[in-house]
Amino acid sequence: MHQPRVVLGVSGGIAAYKACELLRRFTESGHQVTVVPTAASLHFVGEATWAALSGRPAATETWERVHEVPHVRIGQQADLVVVAPATADLLAKAAHGLADDLLTNTLLTARCPVVFAPAMHTEMWEHPATQENVATLRRRGAIVLEPAVGRLTGVDTGKGRLPDPGAIFEACRLVLARGGLPLDLAGRHVVVSGGGTREPLDPVRFLGNISSGKQGYALAATAAARGARVTLLAANTELPDPAGVDVVKVSTALQLREAALAAAADADVVVMAAAVADFRPAEYAAVKIKKVEGAEPAPVALVRNPDILAELSAHRASAAQLVVGFAAETDHALEHGRAKLTRKGCDLLVVNEVGAGRAFGADTNEAVILGSDGSETVVPHGPKEALADILWDLVAQRLK
Ligand code: PMT
Repeated sequence: MHQPRVVLGVSGGIAAYKACELLRRFTESGHQVTVVPTAASLHFVGEATWAALSGRPAATETWERVHEVPHVRIGQQADLVVVAPATADLLAKAAHGLADDLLTNTLLTARCPVVFAPAMHTEMWEHPATQENVATLRRRGAIVLEPAVGRLTGVDTGKGRLPDPGAIFEACRLVLARGGLPLDLAGRHVVVSGGGTREPLDPVRFLGNISSGKQGYALAATAAARGARVTLLAANTELPDPAGVDVVKVSTALQLREAALAAAADADVVVMAAAVADFRPAEYAAVKIKKVEGAEPAPVALVRNPDILAELSAHRASAAQLVVGFAAETDHALEHGRAKLTRKGCDLLVVNEVGAGRAFGADTNEAVILGSDGSETVVPHGPKEALADILWDLVAQRLK
């Protein structure tokens, strides 16, 4: 059986210690890993650790074992290169094609997918130099994961944390699963909503639904694996953040609308997989509604929520922007789906049947994807990731 060959590049940041966990995940799941640490990173984690954990020698310099031509071979033979952590310096070198050590040489010779997992202080991440380097790398087809937000070295907090090693591993697994297919969403900004909105009635009650967010998260993770910059609008979900994805937490339909319109401003594609409440209570009680002994409960008056999908479709940020909706139907799915596609004005509508344990909360799904051009694509029963990939195939064709 082919053991996927992974190069784990480690550059000189304190998050280098977390790469040990990433390495373990690769080796324990049958990957052959060559660790290529930079000289600076060895201040944080020593060569012996990498050799012991990978079962292979770790190499730093181009001048070691020169007869094996490591500066070319390691990159040429890899199925995936992942750099974790990727410092601002390493990203700059990669963007400019510098090659002064084994890792930067490897990045120039690799023809497989390359994933960078940046980690640095917020100021360094936000600096225009770093942002331009990241944009350059993405434009060339590299996957640059968005750093996570949280505690940084010292007392600082902000954006710049290395994404969770488990999430980086999951992102790499999806990239490898594509088997070298082109990263057809590279350079694209994709916005995905997932989960279900909650419309508060009083401080402890809400109108909601049973969406878990699994379909939205699968869409976000697979889009990242195809090279997209992803913004995930997550409504009341409990799932771990997919690596390298910007996650914006929302709760109500009105919050989701605001976040969706903001994120859509520079998006190439918006996919509304969230289950959005069509109505919300007309009034919010500031204190818990009490039951009155002997009296019937007062009816709850509802008002309509805005239709976010219809609004996104009608007011696109650019003529080329694609808008995709989902339709959750319990009966006459295609009939209702076709009417919904016209009503909402989107380019694609994923019609999935729900109820009796289907779609909502499940790990699997099946659907028919209707196109405004009259196309119909049947997605057979399978993991939500598989449905997501078929949808991205259709999106990528239309973006061309
Ligand atoms: O989260 P999971 O547990 O994985 O479940 C996935 C899912 C079943 C929630 C998902 O596959 C799905 O079908 N999402 C859409 C659910 C839904 O709200 O369907 P709808 O037919 O009511 O709405 C149609 C479309 O309009 C949807 O894209 C919805 O996001 C959008 N909408 C709806 C109402 C509203 N006020 N604004 C909207 O934008």
